[in-house]
Formats: sequence, C-alpha cells, structure tokens
Amino acid sequence: MKKIKKKFVIAIDGPASSGKSTTAKQLADKLGCVYIDSGAMYRAVGLYLIENGIDIKDEKKISVCLKDISIEIINYNNEDGNIILLNGKDVTQDIRKPKVSKYSSLVARMGAVRTKLVELQRQISQRKSIVMDGRDIGTVVFPNADYKFYIIADVKERARRRWDELQKKGETKSLEDVIKELEWRDESDSTRKISPLRKPDDAILIDTTFLTIAEQVNKIYQMINF
Ligand code: CDP
Repeated sequence: MKKIKKKFVIAIDGPASSGKSTTAKQLADKLGCVYIDSGAMYRAVGLYLIENGIDIKDEKKISVCLKDISIEIINYNNEDGNIILLNGKDVTQDIRKPKVSKYSSLVARMGAVRTKLVELQRQISQRKSIVMDGRDIGTVVFPNADYKFYIIADVKERARRRWDELQKKGETKSLEDVIKELEWRDESDSTRKISPLRKPDDAILIDTTFLTIAEQVNKIYQMINF
C-alpha cells in the first residue's frame, strides 16, 4: 500500500481512445480516490445540442443556452466509470454514441463551453483527491497537478479498440470509418485555438500500443510516489 499525501491531483491527457479513461478509472481505484472523466462533460453538451435541435454552427445561441445545461457526476468510483446526469437525466450510455463523439469535439472548440466545463472540473477537485482524464487537464485545468501523464497509441490500435467497444454495443461501423473519425477528432482537438491537445512539457509519456490494460495501469501506479 502506498503512503499517500493528503490531497493530490493526477492529470491524464492524450488523443481519442488511447486508453486514458480505462487507465484513469483503474488508477483512481488503486489509489482510493475520485475519478473524473472530463470528456464526458463535453459529450453531455454535445448531446444536449442534438436533443434540442440546436445548430452546432450557431455559437452565439450555444453560448446563451449553456445556462440551461446542468451536468452532474454522481458516481466517482463506479467500476464502470462515472454516471453522468444531464439536467437530472442519466445520459451515461447516450453520450457514447458516434454522433455525440463528433459533436463533443465541435463544442470543445468553443471558448464559452470550455470556460463553463473547466470551472466545473476545478470545483469537483476542490475537496477531493482526483485522477482526471481529458485533453487539457495537465496544460490548462490543473497546470500544477502532482503527476501528469500523456497517453498515446498507434491510430490503428486505437481504432481497433474503439471499433471493439462499438461492436459490443451493437453499433455497425467499418474499421476504416472508425480510423477516419479518430483522425478527424485528433486533428480537430490538436489544431483548435483554445486549449489544443498537446503533451504538457512536464508530463510523462506512455505509449500503450503494445500494453495490456493491467500493464499500463501498473506502469503508471509504480511511477507514483507521494
Ligand atoms: O473517449 P475519447 O477519448 O474518445 O473522448 P473523450 O475523452 O470522451 O472526449 C470527447 C471530446 O471532448 C474530445 O474529442 C475533445 O474534443 C473534448 N475534450 C476536450 O476538449 N477537453 C477535455 N478535457 C476532454 C475532452
């Protein structure tokens, strides 16, 4: 058992389907702290726009309707990940749909959306030790995090993992389409003007292409020494 300092923040960033969420979830479990999936918040905003027929290009309208969007995470330690409530409704499954993935990356480019969600992410961490995963956690949300990890994997391997997940949920998509979507999302996330995806200078790089989940979790766990 590790000797753990009272309150800590661990930031895990990286491109889509690199294994961030699975790693972050299991690491939080091993460390006995809270896990927060920041991407789920961007997905919830994307889902809100789809459900309410709001034009994704209408940034002005989206900024105005942000006040009508309430996002809550009610289960920090669930082994299946966070439970996400959008205006009180459980949307944990709905936010994983491919259309929502695309919308999440589009809303993630908008300053007003980021300001609202970053504030929420910081609020949650105020009294708790956390492992949070996302795209800008080590660069913007918690620049002073105790540990920063940047997780990458070859795009074909990432697509294979995402395709596998979609198959299990009964979504029919070709592997080629999944590769194209991941490449589009990585490009959008890393070239956007606000908080683009990039490795924080002080983050530890982990390539999970040839690692099992248990191997990647253990590798990171062993590096943590408070
Ligand atoms: O699970 P996956 O890696 O596919 O994506 P996600 O973590 O659920 O994030 C969905 C989208 O939200 C990303 O493509 C980013 O555009 C955006 N995001 C972000 O901009 N900043 C974060 N901290 C987390 C997610």
